[in-house]
Amino acid sequence: MAKIRKEDSALGATIDEIDLREPLQTKEVEFIKQSLAENEVIFFRDQEISPTQHKAFALNFGELQSHPVYPTVKGFPEITILENDEDNPSKIEEWHTDMTFRKIPPLGSILLGKIIPKEGGDTLFASLSAAFEGLPNDMKNSLKDMQAVHSFEYGFKESLEEPYGREKLKQALIDNPPVEHPVIRTHPVTGKRLIYVNSLFTSKINTLNDSESRELLSFLCEHIRKEEYQCRFRWKTNSIAFWDNRSVIHKPDNTYWPQLRRMERITIDDTESPY
Ligand SMILES: [Fe+2]
Repeated sequence: MAKIRKEDSALGATIDEIDLREPLQTKEVEFIKQSLAENEVIFFRDQEISPTQHKAFALNFGELQSHPVYPTVKGFPEITILENDEDNPSKIEEWHTDMTFRKIPPLGSILLGKIIPKEGGDTLFASLSAAFEGLPNDMKNSLKDMQAVHSFEYGFKESLEEPYGREKLKQALIDNPPVEHPVIRTHPVTGKRLIYVNSLFTSKINTLNDSESRELLSFLCEHIRKEEYQCRFRWKTNSIAFWDNRSVIHKPDNTYWPQLRRMERITIDDTESPY
């Protein structure tokens, strides 16, 4: 049976003694679900899995999504390729929760390391529940009824400014109009409260005027990425990170450029709205 080793940080744990090439037993799936909710991000090592096995593993946790913009593995529209090299540096510098521009953002993602650079390329995660606990009490109270706007257009503003950017992303813009989410969300499994904003997609806090909104968002986005709420995952080939997209923000450490880094990601649908 699988075993868990917790990281010495606010979140994160590694699951050992499990072979993800094989179909999982129900109790193993339950163990992983519980481990994910409790630790917010879980890691696996030495899992040499094919796209078919990657997909079969992910299907244990829900239905699978496709991304409106990124390329995919041939024959697997649900496996997104994240590949960067000298000619195509990573554009993701911001801490974020994936796809909060959707009405129901994903439950989580399962990211597989295929080609790992010698140096750099770690992924950083930060706990939104630990960040909530770190707020002063009066602030916890004042945030609890606020709603914020999350926007695809805001998150992809740099791509939109590139030549033909708006034309290329026309359909994605139509399919993903701005949505609102509560600023404080409750995790459906653990019941923990979370700060649910991120600097990539959250454009405005509704009830505040523009300058108050900017000030509060910049405070919250600074706060949630404090080092005390973080863990850092050092990739090896065939490592996996499975994060709970409801309770973490993450970002890549892009210092590996111009080396090649190739990752394959499956994103799992959530069934519960964050309201
Ligand atoms: Fe991401």
